[in-house]
Amino acid sequence: MKKIPVIIDTDPGVDDVFALLIAFKNKKLDVKLVCSTAGNVNIENTTNNTLYITKKYSPNTLVAKGIGSPLQKEFVDASDVHGESGVGGFVIPKHNYKLDYDDVILAMKEVIEKSTEKVTIITLGPITNLASFIKACPNLLNKIECVYSMIASVDGSGNVTPYAEFNSYCDPEALDIVVKSGLNIVFVPKQVGEITMIEQKRFFEMGNKNETSKMIVEILSGFHEKAVDSNYAAIYDQNAVFALTNPKYYKFMNCDVTVDVSDEKRGQTFINIIKNKKSNLRCVFVKNPQKLSNAIFKELYR
Ligand code: RIB
Ligand code: CA
Repeated sequence: MKKIPVIIDTDPGVDDVFALLIAFKNKKLDVKLVCSTAGNVNIENTTNNTLYITKKYSPNTLVAKGIGSPLQKEFVDASDVHGESGVGGFVIPKHNYKLDYDDVILAMKEVIEKSTEKVTIITLGPITNLASFIKACPNLLNKIECVYSMIASVDGSGNVTPYAEFNSYCDPEALDIVVKSGLNIVFVPKQVGEITMIEQKRFFEMGNKNETSKMIVEILSGFHEKAVDSNYAAIYDQNAVFALTNPKYYKFMNCDVTVDVSDEKRGQTFINIIKNKKSNLRCVFVKNPQKLSNAIFKELYR
């Protein structure tokens, strides 16, 4: 079976780690490159987290350090949710893993140019790297099959401000560039993560299975999901991977997307479903939340 060549852009980040673990074990994917981005925590921490998790669980995957601040405004983080290091209560062990690139645009350019097939990009954090790549390498956009992006909110509501989902809020100018780029994009909005939450005790019950399940428990032990019931872990980023590897759990609807880049409701987005008209933009909706969250949980421990 031909594998899907993939680049993942991520700001680990508790749910990012779970999403990476699921992506690395899926036989349908050939994860060629993982790029860090500033977001849940600063670029130094997200890069170290990305490097450790990627080289440990997918040794042949390249790692690039991404851009450390948004296109225009100040960097804001979510360390109050994901912990100072970004991976909750887990302490990344000392390691000798080395970055393959410290220039994310060069990394994306070389991987996309070398790929014999069009590349699919999965974004799990603020979308600064992809927007910068679009501006720097417009001639390579025809080698991008599709972008699966955990970002945005369907109805203008937020999880970091009353109006904005976190990844949109961090760099709305970048999101606006990507929305208008003409790329095929599948949006996996915050609502999908919120209705597929998993009770944290289910993760703790798996704690002694192996080294990875122990790491998951330590990650969650320092994860303060302020936005929702702290007994649950919102499953945002895993859905961006699952929508690509397991599309049967989702409905894909054509849509258009608006992004607010003003100061008043910075990062606010609306995803408007459009019927009877093709669009390069689609949004996923969950067919059966319980079935989906069980499938994601099972895949994490497979
Ligand atoms: O709003 C949820 C998103 O913000 C997720 O990607 C989470 O990791 C944080 O980055
Ligand atoms: Ca993330």
